Amino acid sequence: MADGTAREPTPDRPDNTAAWDTLSASYDREIGWPDRELAWGIRCPPESQLQVISDVVTGADTTVVGCGGGQDLLALHRLGATGLTGLDPSTAQLERARQRLDTAGVRAHLLLGDDRRLDELPAGHADLVVTVQALDYVEELDRCLRGVVRALRPGGVFAMSVLHPADVSTADTPPFGWHTSYHREQRDWSWDGLTDEPVRLRSWFRSPSTWFTAVSDAGLVVERMLEPAPGPAEPWVERGWLDEASAAKLDLVPSTFVLRARRPGGPAAPAAR
Ligand SMILES: C[S@@+](CC[C@H](N)C(=O)[O-])C[C@H]1O[C@@H](n2cnc3c(N)ncnc32)[C@H](O)[C@@H]1O
Repeated sequence: MADGTAREPTPDRPDNTAAWDTLSASYDREIGWPDRELAWGIRCPPESQLQVISDVVTGADTTVVGCGGGQDLLALHRLGATGLTGLDPSTAQLERARQRLDTAGVRAHLLLGDDRRLDELPAGHADLVVTVQALDYVEELDRCLRGVVRALRPGGVFAMSVLHPADVSTADTPPFGWHTSYHREQRDWSWDGLTDEPVRLRSWFRSPSTWFTAVSDAGLVVERMLEPAPGPAEPWVERGWLDEASAAKLDLVPSTFVLRARRPGGPAAPAAR
């Protein structure tokens, strides 16, 4: 699917952008994704414990793919990231990001559009590209990763998290659960209970080995892969959308997959500014 029309919604294909426009307000209110520190996932230890980017974030020119409501940008700012750029295809999410950053007095360049907009940014502009729980929505992964590599300066770091496919395969509600293969990537699902009407989404839940191969094939050197044991639910998250049995099973598997990789070449640390 090399052409840019591959993601357009059809009657059979959930419109992820419209879905996030609809979800934005309740997601912000009900899930309450934190901005006080960088969260890699629900029930996943935060950056202060995982230390995925702690050695490179200070002073790093940072771009966030799928910046959502701006929580990650704000948390990255608090960690010392600079030159913040965020892109997200949802108008409602991006507006929320604008409000959140304005309220905090933090400047960021916000771009409406999906990961393909990476190609419009200056090549090699970023010391750090971060994406938290957004690349599950990307179908053309190789193309997206080429955009990440292009955006990074030599020596720059890519840090990402997605929902772990074991988590997805543990919740019993179709299309999740063990009645479908762990290896089945594309799943259309609906987020029930967060808004008045269920919202349909299409995701691609990829295994760690798939990520390793795709990121390596794109030309990055994988430095770290994490599958943290699930901790107790973070105080900021409810598990109300899961039935009890599914929620209990989630204690048995990692909820989040985190990967860090580096573009070869260049200085290992961000250039002093
Ligand atoms: C679960 S939110 C992640 C945002 C933030 N990290 C958080 O966890 O709240 C997913 C975000 O990914 C965005 N998104 C969906 N498809 C995308 C794509 N192809 N490229 C970039 N962002 C995308 C959505 O609009 C949404 O804001």
